[in-house]
Formats: sequence, structure tokens, C-alpha cells
Amino acid sequence: MSRQSRIAVVGSANVDLTTFSDRFPKAGETIFGQHFDLGWGGKGANQAVAARLCGADVAMVARVGDDLFGPATITNFQAQGIDASHVRIVPGTSSGVAPIFVESNGQNRIIVVKGANDRLLPADVDAAAEVLAAADCIVLQFEIPLETVFHTVRFARERGIRCIVNPAPAQPVDLGALAGVDYFVPNESEAETITGMPVRSVGDAEACAKHLVAKGLTRVIITLGDKGALLASADGVTHVPPYPVATKDTTGAGDAFVGSFAVFLGEGLAERDAIARANLYAALSTTGIGTQKSFVTRARFDDEWKARLGAAGQA
Ligand code: RIB
Repeated sequence: MSRQSRIAVVGSANVDLTTFSDRFPKAGETIFGQHFDLGWGGKGANQAVAARLCGADVAMVARVGDDLFGPATITNFQAQGIDASHVRIVPGTSSGVAPIFVESNGQNRIIVVKGANDRLLPADVDAAAEVLAAADCIVLQFEIPLETVFHTVRFARERGIRCIVNPAPAQPVDLGALAGVDYFVPNESEAETITGMPVRSVGDAEACAKHLVAKGLTRVIITLGDKGALLASADGVTHVPPYPVATKDTTGAGDAFVGSFAVFLGEGLAERDAIARANLYAALSTTGIGTQKSFVTRARFDDEWKARLGAAGQA
């Protein structure tokens, strides 16, 4: 590792209630599932934990509820070695929760109830200014109010801090308010929702990414699941191929990509190299079940990376 990344995540924390079944029930139908998993989740928290496991110094800015889950979420951050001094409990509000349904092919469907995540406001970002200003990268998602995302983007831009925005879950957004972010990282369905363009192939993703760059986003990375990732900027478009793995559960793979990418970039790797490593880190997360508990340590990642050097014509 060349230098330690310092990452700040302004984002969500949820508790994931994951049910595994052969198929999804039809409307009005009750079926038996095979397995249940209760775990820590939330796109922001997942990205913070991935960054921490990859070796970064990480701070989290978030809001949790005053239910059973809130204090336990803070304890989880602390146990991971994440600075949780700006993770606060909101009285009278539930924590964010995510009922998740996973089919036997690893595909998932998620309903997020945002709860306290919706109470993370621009003033809370200002209150965390000292911690955020010490970061070399600020990472954001769309599971908190968009006004807070836009405010944090401005905060980062004014201070010249690298800023990565993962627009998940997708929602209509004024892309102008995100001009100046260094990396805009949607997956295929998020890119489709935000642009209205179909993203069903690498070719579609290329057209969509070019469209987003033309709209003023400096660098766009569209994550493509088992097809790898695509980077687009004014310099052109690069497809970074995937690493094959035996997938069990894809939940949180996008978060594993974003959190690890922030770290690899912060360590001084070139963009393409950072994306290739993040592809592998995300792929490894799909070989376990659950979200944060499926993320691998840096030592495990480094072993896998060495073992796959040269795979798919990269590294
Ligand atoms: O990206 C996966 C995450 O989405 C889950 O952890 C769930 O909490 C939702 O935020």
C-alpha cells in the first residue's frame, strides 16, 4: 500500500432483513423461504465498511433511529474502527431498514424504509466540517435527502476534496447540481432511470455514459455486474472487464465497488487499475451472503488479486 486513504462517507445506515427463496411470491401468494439473514446495511454504511476493510481511515456522517437498531448501528461502526462521532440518534424516529429478497440465482429486490436517514440535513454536514475537511475523498449516495447530497458536493468542491457520488437508489436528479463531482458511479438500472436511456449491454452503457459526460459530469463509471465496469470522460471510454466468481448473493456488490474504488484511488493507483481492483473486490462480495458480512478483508483481497494477476487481460 503506497499511502493510507482517508475517506469520509456522508450517507445512510440501515438494518438489512434478507430472505432467501427459490423464487419471489406472486401477489397474494405465501411461499416458504430457505434462509434468513439479519445484518448491517445501508449504502453509505456499506461503502464505509468496505473502505475500512480495504485499509482506509474512515469517518461516517449519518443519522439512526432511537429504536433497538440505532445504538447497535453506532456500536457496529465503532467495532469496525470507523469514526462514528457524527453518527447521531434522532429521537422519535425509526432507523433505516431494508427488507431484501434474494432468488436462487443471487439476484435481489430491496425495499428501503429510510427512517432517520431522511433526517441527515445540510446543517449536520456543516457540524461535521472538521472531520470532512480532513478527508481526501468524500463519498455520497442517494439514500439521504438530495439537498444534503448537493450541499456536501459544494462543500467538497470548495475545498478541492475528491468527491464520488453513487446515485443509488436512483431517482430523478438535477445533474447540474452534481457538476464538479469527480466520479459519478451508477449501475445499469440507475443509469437508465436517471437518463431514460436503455442500458442492457456494454454498448448501451457506453452511449449512456457519454450522454452523462455531455451533461457535465466529469467522469462517469457505470458498473455492469458480471460484465465489469465502464469508465467515460472527455478523454474517451474504457471497458474494464470483470473477474468470474461463483455468485451467491449480489446484495451490496455496488457498495463494495464504490468503497474499495475510493480507497484504491486514494492510494494513488491510476483510474483503470483502481476500477479493475474494485471489480474484483465487488465480485468477491457476491460469493458470500449478506451485505457488510460478505465484504472481504484487505489481506484476503490482496491474496485473490495476486492469484488472478493477468486474468481477463488486466492487472
Ligand atoms: O446496496 C445494498 C443496500 O441497499 C442494502 O444494504 C440495503 O440496506 C440498501 O440500502
